[in-house]
Amino acid sequence: MRVHHWKCIALALLIAAMVPITANKALADSKGSASSVWGANYFPNIPLITHEGKSVRFFDDLIKDKVVLINFIFTKCLDSCPLETARIRQVQQILGDRVGKDVFFYSISIDPTYDTPEMLKAYVDQYKIEPGWVFLTGKESDITLLRKRLGLYIEEIQGEDSTDHNLNLIIGNQSTGRWMKSSPFENPHILATQIGKWLHNWKQVPRTKNTYADAPELRNITKGESLFRTRCASCHTVGTPGAMASRKAIGPDLYGINQSRDRAWLVRWLAEPDKMLAEKDPLAMALYNQYNKLPMPNLRLNMAEIENLLGYIQELTLLAENKAKAHGRSDMGGHDNGDHHH
Ligand code: HEC
Repeated sequence: MRVHHWKCIALALLIAAMVPITANKALADSKGSASSVWGANYFPNIPLITHEGKSVRFFDDLIKDKVVLINFIFTKCLDSCPLETARIRQVQQILGDRVGKDVFFYSISIDPTYDTPEMLKAYVDQYKIEPGWVFLTGKESDITLLRKRLGLYIEEIQGEDSTDHNLNLIIGNQSTGRWMKSSPFENPHILATQIGKWLHNWKQVPRTKNTYADAPELRNITKGESLFRTRCASCHTVGTPGAMASRKAIGPDLYGINQSRDRAWLVRWLAEPDKMLAEKDPLAMALYNQYNKLPMPNLRLNMAEIENLLGYIQELTLLAENKAKAHGRSDMGGHDNGDHHH
């Protein structure tokens, strides 16, 4: 029997995502001990403050009888957090107004001294995060305890080592005791399905019509496409009509970028955007200011990957161009069409 490579990868990803957290030692150990497993005895009911300044308790107010997604972030983190935040933002868009109603998203700061409610509010605005997803801060020792209980504690989080920070997201249903970890690189449609259906025991019918129609089909995809999907698509569109692009994406639409930007500038930007921002490259600074002062993360791409990505963006550009021609449209989201005030 011949199984295609990509099928294996998809399957492996799925299985990895499905491994329940009971495999985690901390939680497994607790099983026999607490009188009510997964209940108030296990989860600390620590006090936290939301980005809107509201005081809440972790167990009573945030997770009790709820289906939740929880991750840990810090606003100074320039590496894996922006990707993770952008990815969760996509999941929120797929689930639509269910978030805040029957599915709850919480991002808790692991740098609570710096991340005051005001800082978190600024972060929410910077990422254009819609209502229903709550950012929280509190006492450092409380938050450390919580991370340990959720099996998401990592000794040292240095901005340098992004891999450490990868498995940082957990989704679960407090009343059924089903919890699982997920990766920020997870396909947002898979994550949305896990949260929206699996954790609801498949009872809930999604309200957003496009959930499945939007889901990418499994097929043989190029390197450029797979890189774009996993590293860029959570922040960028290519050729999405103007107003829609700025609602959907955090960063500029990349339509026609190969034509409109100097090649050397473009290649270097993809290789080391952080350095170019630090050096105050004029074009980089102009974009940075235009896009809510949200720095594009250094995604550690090598030259071959950059070539593949630019090739794929060019493909998308041509596709969008043909589509626009067919529809007689001219309002394509170009890279400098970022601000739509009307
Ligand atoms: C976390 C969000 C995020 C991710 C992930 C991200 N970008 Fe960006 N990107 C931005 C933002 C924001 C800007 C605008 C400049 C700034 O603020 O630093 C930008 C700018 C750009 C530009 C310059 C656009 C122009 O008009 O010249 C290009 C090209 C680009 N990104 C490509 C990519 C590619 C390719 C990837 C994936 C490998 C990627 N980006 C991943 C947020 C992101």
